[in-house]
Amino acid sequence: QIRRIIDNIGLLWTMDDANHTDGPRCGREAMRTVGAIENAAIAIDAAGLIADVGPRKSILDMADADTEIIDAKGGFVSPGLVDPHTHLVHGGSREKELPLRIAGASYLDILRQGGGILRTVRDTAAQSEAALLNQAKVSLERMSRFGVTTVEAKTGYGLTLEGEMKQLLVAKQLAEAQPLSLVHTAMPAHAVPKDLPTSREAFIEQIVDMLPALHDAGAEFADVFVEDGVFSVEEGRHILMKAKSLGMKTKIHADEIAPIGGAELAAELGATSADHLLAASNEGLVKMAEAGVIAVCLPGTSFYLQKTPARARFMLDEANLAVAVASDYNPGSCPSENFGLTMSLALLTLHMTPEEIWNAATRNAAYAIARGDVAGVIRKGRPADVVVYAAPNPEYVLTHFGISHVGMLFVKGRRIL
Ligand code: NIG
Ligand code: FE
Repeated sequence: QIRRIIDNIGLLWTMDDANHTDGPRCGREAMRTVGAIENAAIAIDAAGLIADVGPRKSILDMADADTEIIDAKGGFVSPGLVDPHTHLVHGGSREKELPLRIAGASYLDILRQGGGILRTVRDTAAQSEAALLNQAKVSLERMSRFGVTTVEAKTGYGLTLEGEMKQLLVAKQLAEAQPLSLVHTAMPAHAVPKDLPTSREAFIEQIVDMLPALHDAGAEFADVFVEDGVFSVEEGRHILMKAKSLGMKTKIHADEIAPIGGAELAAELGATSADHLLAASNEGLVKMAEAGVIAVCLPGTSFYLQKTPARARFMLDEANLAVAVASDYNPGSCPSENFGLTMSLALLTLHMTPEEIWNAATRNAAYAIARGDVAGVIRKGRPADVVVYAAPNPEYVLTHFGISHVGMLFVKGRRIL
């Protein structure tokens, strides 16, 4: 039984292909495959799954008297967007840091002085769970307005078991309290507190000891900020090996500022993704591709930190990497939930093509959070996460930048916008 049909789609990018292949798309040629159908329609069943997708006439034949026909007005349609890297749950805000950075202080200077992430750790500790939940819910609503239907959410503003659990439990409650799908990542290794009461080694062991409880409470991934003056490659390896032994999948904030070998570590560990990568070496990027690690580019962050962006063209043209994009929404290095802006910056600063950008923001982003089987493509049998743009084509969506072009948004077959 067909519950509704999204009809009169001018241009549909399914991000699928004729053979319904699975897996992330690697390199420039594959990432230019979009599964385009002109004058298309999508049939959705009573369970919210895609009953069929194809040319209008064939799909409209499936309608009965009770089927709701929805007019996409000749617009562009894509799968629901997937944001595979956010620091969703946090207290407070950090607007005072940008003037300091513009006056010459670096992101890591501010962190070393107890600001930055450590400031948000204090702000998050000061908030009740209810207040954190409300703030994060507003962020998710904002993300949905740009077409996002699946969001990864990291901890990392607790740094103690109690604080990390608080953040994780808020994210878990949010997963039930609003329509978007969430994926949970534990990131107790996000920063090192300023005046450690213990030795550095003991602090690293405390982090390792938090992982079982965070995993049991629903954290599917573990992530470490491997960076000069934050966590070393050796510390990252130690923490993530423990995570792997528990059955967690792994991610790394890798080579964001200094080229210390985060990309190489991601390859060695077989991480699901390595993210940021502004300073990653050519060798590290090639090793990531060989190991099947997805490169998650965060163009909003390089823009806001005023840094040279990740070398997406090398990743795509030379290293044959699977590239994804993410907002990195957080209060310090990318305080914006505008995933449309992320995608426009992928065009303007990463020099990706529209085809590569939609692959990076749907299919590859879903694989970057182990959701390639349920999100990122429009295919018969999949949950109907669908963006209908009030815009005629993908180039228009990217170039008319900074605003939302979402006309309608469906999550698991239900219209939420
Ligand atoms: O991905 N680089 C480290 N972590 C975050 C920023 C978190 C913050 O500044 O609060 C990032 O950019
Ligand atoms: Fe991040």
